[in-house]
Amino acid sequence: MKYLTLCVALLAAPAAAQEAAQDSVTRDAGLAAWERIYTVTSHPRCTNCHVGARGLPMWQGLGYGPEAVHGMKVQAGESRIGAESIPCAACHVTSAAANTTPHAPPHIDDAWRLPPVELEWFGKTSAEVCTQLRDPERNDGHDIASLVDHLRNSAFVAWGFTPGAGRSAPKTTLDALVHDVTLWGAAGTPCTTD
Ligand code: HEC
Ligand code: HEC
Repeated sequence: MKYLTLCVALLAAPAAAQEAAQDSVTRDAGLAAWERIYTVTSHPRCTNCHVGARGLPMWQGLGYGPEAVHGMKVQAGESRIGAESIPCAACHVTSAAANTTPHAPPHIDDAWRLPPVELEWFGKTSAEVCTQLRDPERNDGHDIASLVDHLRNSAFVAWGFTPGAGRSAPKTTLDALVHDVTLWGAAGTPCTTD
């Protein structure tokens, strides 16, 4: 019985400690977490898709130079899936198979497409993306919990961290990103401009 009580106490302790820590996450710790989040949201594996109203996906970080837009005059259009010209799916097929061939069109287990225009991150500063990502009006209606949910479940995000085929990826892990977004949220989503 004593042993059981001890076990319960040991199990409960870390959870309680974690909660206490989250209640007291300082602004500085929140800003530091944000800077780590921005190293991901500014990475080409994310920004090549997170572009604005021009509807031009980018080809950064693939050896074509920093300004390279997608070749072959690809234009996502208002549909964001190229429905008005050549659909993304003509080349980016939907498939859960691993991406192994360098410079082949990447595929994931979801319809390849651009995010809504308000999720534009390409070319934006850390402060700009920070204020955008905490604002449900400009982040597709999300609070922190549902942002975390998206990060954990999106085939796009999973691919960004493990793109395969010799592509570079953010220098952190999806778990670390989820941890940092939770921390940033617990600190009250601070941005340097506040
Ligand atoms: C192939 C294009 C593509 C890539 C690459 C991509 N995203 Fe997205 N992203 C989307 C789309 C599309 C949405 C809109 C939500 C949906 O349809 O799943 C989205 C939405 C989001 C959202 C907002 C949540 C929401 O539901 O709107 C976050 C956060 C996000 N992406 C993070 C990332 C991160 C981090 C990376 C890089 C690791 C990344 N994305 C790479 C296409 C992409
Ligand atoms: C004619 C074929 C073709 C069509 C259509 C096409 N793509 Fe691509 N796409 C490619 C190829 C090939 C690559 C890989 C280029 C490389 O790695 O050198 C690519 C790469 C990309 C990348 C960069 C991925 C990375 O590694 O960061 C994005 C983003 C992208 N495409 C988005 C789109 C979107 C959005 C559409 C539809 C609006 C689309 N593509 C339509 C062939 C196509």
